[in-house]
Amino acid sequence: MRFAKVRLAPGEKKEYIICAGITEKENFNKEFEKYNSKEKVEAAWKQNEEHWNGEADKIKFQGNSDKFDGWLRWVSIQPVLRKIYGCSFLPYHDYGRGGRGWRDLWQDYLTLLLQNPMRVRSVFVHNMKGVRLDGSNATIILDGEGNFQADRNKISRVWMDHGVWPLFTLLLYMNQTGDISILDEEVSYWKDAQIERAKRIDTNWKKEDGNSQKTKDGECYTGTILEHLLLENLICSLNIGEHGNIKLEDGDWNDQLDMAPDKGETIPFTAFYGKNICDIADLLEIQIEKEDRKTISVFEEMEILLEGLKEKEPQKEVEVLKKYYEHIRFGISGKKKKIPVLELKDMLRWKGKQLLQQVRENEWIELSSKEGFFNGYYNNDGNAVDGILGDGKLRFGLTAQTFSIMSGAATDEQVQKTIHAVNNYLPDKNTGGIRLTLPLGDNTWNFGRGFALIYGEKENGGMFSHMTTMYAYALYSRGYAREGYQIIKSIYELSTNTQIAQIYPGVPEYISSRGRGMYSYVTGAGSWTIFLMLTQVYGIRGQLGDLLIEPKLVKEQYDSGEVLTVDTLFAEKEVCVSFYNRKHLDYGEYQLGELSINGEVWKNQINSTSVVLHQAELEEKLIAGRKNQICIELVERKG
Ligand code: G1P
Repeated sequence: MRFAKVRLAPGEKKEYIICAGITEKENFNKEFEKYNSKEKVEAAWKQNEEHWNGEADKIKFQGNSDKFDGWLRWVSIQPVLRKIYGCSFLPYHDYGRGGRGWRDLWQDYLTLLLQNPMRVRSVFVHNMKGVRLDGSNATIILDGEGNFQADRNKISRVWMDHGVWPLFTLLLYMNQTGDISILDEEVSYWKDAQIERAKRIDTNWKKEDGNSQKTKDGECYTGTILEHLLLENLICSLNIGEHGNIKLEDGDWNDQLDMAPDKGETIPFTAFYGKNICDIADLLEIQIEKEDRKTISVFEEMEILLEGLKEKEPQKEVEVLKKYYEHIRFGISGKKKKIPVLELKDMLRWKGKQLLQQVRENEWIELSSKEGFFNGYYNNDGNAVDGILGDGKLRFGLTAQTFSIMSGAATDEQVQKTIHAVNNYLPDKNTGGIRLTLPLGDNTWNFGRGFALIYGEKENGGMFSHMTTMYAYALYSRGYAREGYQIIKSIYELSTNTQIAQIYPGVPEYISSRGRGMYSYVTGAGSWTIFLMLTQVYGIRGQLGDLLIEPKLVKEQYDSGEVLTVDTLFAEKEVCVSFYNRKHLDYGEYQLGELSINGEVWKNQINSTSVVLHQAELEEKLIAGRKNQICIELVERKG
């Protein structure tokens, strides 16, 4: 860029407006006219600032150190940025084409839905149209609602973790809003040439047939969202490998582990699916209690899968899957079958528990009376990946620990031993960050391309913020607040050590072994951080529309004062919840004392570490159009 030469007299100044943007040629002048004077630029700048402050203020934490609170403001807009631009949109991204994948979509909504619970309903309903009859799904999210592309790189493959995320996010939605009617919404299924979880091609399908699943009569089939969720979770939990865990297929959350499609098994996602299956059983129980539901309707071929729940031997389960695939190979009849809910609920509960037990009992590696960890995987030769290796070295990663803890597969004793092992073996000596894994070791190409990465980079032992945040979430959710806090603190310190991390404020995808923050903004860690802070650390979350408050605050968070507050939305009303800790009590030392709403005492002494405000009470006490103040005293715990 060049400008004409100017000579400035002392004190004189000259201003330039530089506009950069992309638009069609014919719109150039129209766009430029919006910004072609100082006043216009200033007005646009102000509007821009207000917009982003508005986004950052939707969930706003105050009272920690200013730097920490400020950091969280930046983190809270990361999911918004990723929604707009997709993953890998910045120039320094060396991969990707700017799209967002299925799992990223659902996880970003954890925070996007907390910011705007009512606006996301239709997004969720439309997104369920991405599920195929084999429980897999189209992976790339395009613009507009419910528009997908099977795979941008035109490779037929299935990531087995995809089926867990919709239920996880929808559960949060149902709890925040109390709206379980979303389960009864009917939507179509995705259809393309890929069938039987990318193991076969449907040669009869043509592009012109469109991407919605048809019945054999050529009608577009629709089924309930509950049916979609059941299908996704059921198919995976029947897809069991020779060690009793769910098959890895072409990868799970860690998409670097993509080369064990035959004998690979994943323990973390066996645990996650186990939890999901139990959660579906809980949902059915709620439908029975709240709506006196006796049956649910599913497409008739699905009954084969439900029968599979009765199988107790893994090999038989795989046979059931085969039978199901054969039945739907040329489409479905479109007829519905009524399934008794009570019986289904019990079968699901049995299956879910069995998966959790498999992880708890068969994949636990005890190192000493103090330490142990969960094996994460089986490779394509069917050998356990983690454990004590031949040369006496250890190998394990954070993923299996995170999901075994979060799902409830790990017993309390196992959680404690895992924490010891993680703190002992996974910290990076240079940066102090918790690594995703110990060295993967020599690559034999029987597990995944992640092995080809240098140790300390990305999924091979970087401090992978997304998993570390999910680990912290898992710890908090099991009541290990102090240990969880240490983890959040380490991510925060590494991310804000600007001299070394060399990034703008926010949480990066990972911290390299040199301490450098890599791939800013576009990480699922952004969404999980806010979700973790609000629902676990501050402990403010919905329970089928009721508001549960269960703070897990540690005393260091009160170093700058005696009150911690958070602004958020609940039941479509703005609330500001303040926790007063006048005696500087630590987590475990306090319980809830007086609770007041908008200056009026609601209860003198709560006498417990948590409290539930019921929907009807909220309706009465919270006022629309203003910020409602909920103040809670933390007092010494009795007994
Ligand atoms: C990225 C991808 C995500 C994948 C993860 C691990 O994570 O976006 O789909 O599961 O790597 O391989 P993120 O940047 O969201 O932390």
